[in-house]
Formats: sequence, C-alpha cells, structure tokens
Amino acid sequence: MTEQDFILKGFDTSVENGKVTWESPSNIALVKYWGKKKNQIPENPSISFTLSECKTITEVTFSKKEGNDFSFEVFFEGEANEAFKPKIQTFFERIEPYVPFLRQYHFKIETKNTFPHSSGIASSASGMSALALCLMSIEEQLSVTQGLVAEAARSGTEKSNHYFNQKASFLARLGSGSACRSIEGPLVVWGSHEEIEHSSDLYGVKFNENIHVNFENYKDTILLVDKGEKQVSSTLGHNLMHGHPFSERRFEQAHNNLSELATILKNGDLDQFINIVESEALTLHAMMMTSSPYFILMKPNTLEIINSVWNYRAKTGSKLCFTLDAGANVHLLYPDAEAEKVLDFIKTELVAYCQNGHYICDTVGYGAKHL
Ligand code: PMV
Repeated sequence: MTEQDFILKGFDTSVENGKVTWESPSNIALVKYWGKKKNQIPENPSISFTLSECKTITEVTFSKKEGNDFSFEVFFEGEANEAFKPKIQTFFERIEPYVPFLRQYHFKIETKNTFPHSSGIASSASGMSALALCLMSIEEQLSVTQGLVAEAARSGTEKSNHYFNQKASFLARLGSGSACRSIEGPLVVWGSHEEIEHSSDLYGVKFNENIHVNFENYKDTILLVDKGEKQVSSTLGHNLMHGHPFSERRFEQAHNNLSELATILKNGDLDQFINIVESEALTLHAMMMTSSPYFILMKPNTLEIINSVWNYRAKTGSKLCFTLDAGANVHLLYPDAEAEKVLDFIKTELVAYCQNGHYICDTVGYGAKHL
C-alpha cells in the first residue's frame, strides 16, 4: 500500500449527521521507535504489545455545516478542553488529503481515559488511534451510502476490514507515531523490516506468526514513579536523533533486535526476551542521555525499581523484566503464570517507589473496539 491508496476518492455529501464511538488501547514497545523522518516516518522499525485496560473511549458526533474551516469542539471527561485543540488541529491538517470530508462537518469530540489523567501515562497512542478509528467509521458511512468504497477495499468484507484497519493505523500515525500500533493486537510491528512480511513505515501490521504460549495473557504492571508532565516532549526527543552521534548504529541495532525478537516470540525463550526488552529500554534512555542537548527522564525511584527487579530475578529465577517509555514510570512485564507471585513482590517491595503507592495492572490485549 502507498499513501495514494489511502486517499478517499469521493463521498456522499447528503449525510447530515451521525455519531460513532470507539475505544482504543495504549501499547508498550518492546523494540522502541525513537527518531523519525518527515511526515512521521520512523527511522527504525518497532514492535509493541497492545494493552487491554489502559484505553481511551472517544465519541464523535458530526453534523453538516457551512463554511470552509475546520470546526470541532473537544470534551475531556465531560468538560470542554481547549488544551487538546492544537494537537487535533494539526492532526486534521495532516490527514485532510486522505479524509477530504473534514471541512464539511462540525465535530463534537468527547473523550475519556480508563487510566487516571495525570498518571504520566501517555494517552497519545490510545487517544489518537481512537480518534482515527472514529473518522474511519465516518468515512465508511459517507462511502457506503453512495456505494463508494475506496479503491483498495473493493472486494469482500474481510478485505475491507483489512483496509479499514490499515487506513485507521495510517491516520493514527499522522497524529502520534506510536498510535499506529494500537489498532490491533496482541503484537504490532510498525516500520519496514526485511524479514517481516507486509511491514511498512506507513502503518502498523499485526505480527502474524504463531506466538508462543509463554506470551499468552502476558502481564504489564505500570509502576507510576512520576505522574508529572514530561520535561521533554517525545517530539523534541525524536528530533534530537538527527545528527546524534550514535543514531546510525542505534537504527541498525533496532533492526537486529526485531529480527531476534521475532524468533523469540515464536520459540518462547523468556531469558532472551528479557535481554532484548531491557536492553531496548536502557538504549532508549541512553539515546536521551547522549543527545545534544542531553536529558534524563528516569528518576531515582526508576533505578531503585530496576535494581529490585534484577535482585528479585537473581533470587527467584523469575522471568519478570522491565521496560520504559519516554518517562520515569516503569512497565513490569511478566508471564501470566507468575502473576500472583509478582504482584506480591510489587506490593511488598516496589509500591514504596511509586508516587502515592499507585500502579496499574494491565494485560496484553487484542486492539480497538467499535462501540
Ligand atoms: O509516538 P510518540 O511520538 O509519542 O513516540 C513514542 C516513543 C516511545 O514511546 C518512547 C517508544 C515507542 O516505540 O513507543
């Protein structure tokens, strides 16, 4: 698929109004995306677990309007929210060539998260993917009425579902890169990789191999170390990979790590899984610490947790490991079979390092849902 395939060729302007609702989850990268080219094209491929509990629910009510401007209002958890508007304005500008009906309608966007707002958990992946899916449902309504279906979706429901998901992911990417990995699950690859069939820089694709039973219902407990706003946005961080002294080697390493991880996800080797996942997390933060200007997003308690995880593993032989996003919070990944023991460990030892003792229990999930 190319960008051209995602351009909606025509739509039915007689549809006066309607309402669509989607819920879409967050995701946690195992091989990290850090560094991008123009138009939200990643410098390297990444792969993530889709989550199931941390999600955004978005309802979009649309009604026909006069005039040629973008017109939308945003409500977050029931209250009008001005702060989200610039991001959505930019999103609309970027995606307009592909969804040309945006200026014909007024959109009321009502959104809420299942996780606490100021938890330091980025809601851009779940939020942008939920909005992209709502726009796709509107596109579908405007196309179906007129019997217009985009070129690529012509034959068969399965094929058009596939097109729907791919275009939703394509649009979500233009809102926030990692959002393109939230449409499906349990594992999604984004970024072209020579060994992963159909992988693309333009959208995420489901990792379509037989995933080993060890990864079934894999757990992700998010330890909330710091609930504050990030001091450095990921947009800024991505940009600092341009001219970074280690960037070329890092992008190459991500390709290799994804090759290895693809094998591990099939053979279930949890020791190798831990090696790659923890190394990826620390490499992400190493890139931040060695960019110019340099910065550190980890906090003292992030390091306390990492050390406790290593001690726990050495003592018990557990397969618990950690990963990090662009922030201080720690994601603990572990097999379902260890859930009870690890939760015990979290409650007795790690909760002390969490802000106000807060953590969120999540499990790998299967992607967004139309409500
Ligand atoms: O999608 P963005 O631009 O917020 O970037 C996210 C980058 C990381 O979360 C740090 C890594 C990833 O692959 O999700």
